[in-house]
Amino acid sequence: MPLPPGAIALCASDALRDGGLAVPFEVLHEGVPNRAFAVRHEGQVAAFLNRCTHVAMELDWQPNRVFDASGEWLICASHGAIFHPTSGECMGGPCNGGLVRIALLEQDGQVWWLPDAHTVAPEVAAGDD
Ligand code: FES
Repeated sequence: MPLPPGAIALCASDALRDGGLAVPFEVLHEGVPNRAFAVRHEGQVAAFLNRCTHVAMELDWQPNRVFDASGEWLICASHGAIFHPTSGECMGGPCNGGLVRIALLEQDGQVWWLPDAHTVAPEVAAGDD
């Protein structure tokens, strides 16, 4: 199946294990540089801005550790807000709405992310190629 135009390679499929460490990547969201992360839960991949909806902080204190001890929920290390690992919906704690989701596509052992009107690849600095 052809990839949608603009798809950006993120990681190999086996870099994302169920309930395991997230794979980070950089985006521009509404023109602002942000970190984002991808995870896998029950076989499905999902990605979100790494920005809690309680306070605009990154979820992980230990790099890429965004799942709780059960491996079932995403948790913000700051004050314990809990999010659904594939929808990003707020499931408990002090969150104020769900995480901002970034569309992913998994195909032939590779995971791709799909920019949209709000979230795009960081600009490549001049001479940075
Ligand atoms: S900053 Fe995430 S729960 Fe407070």
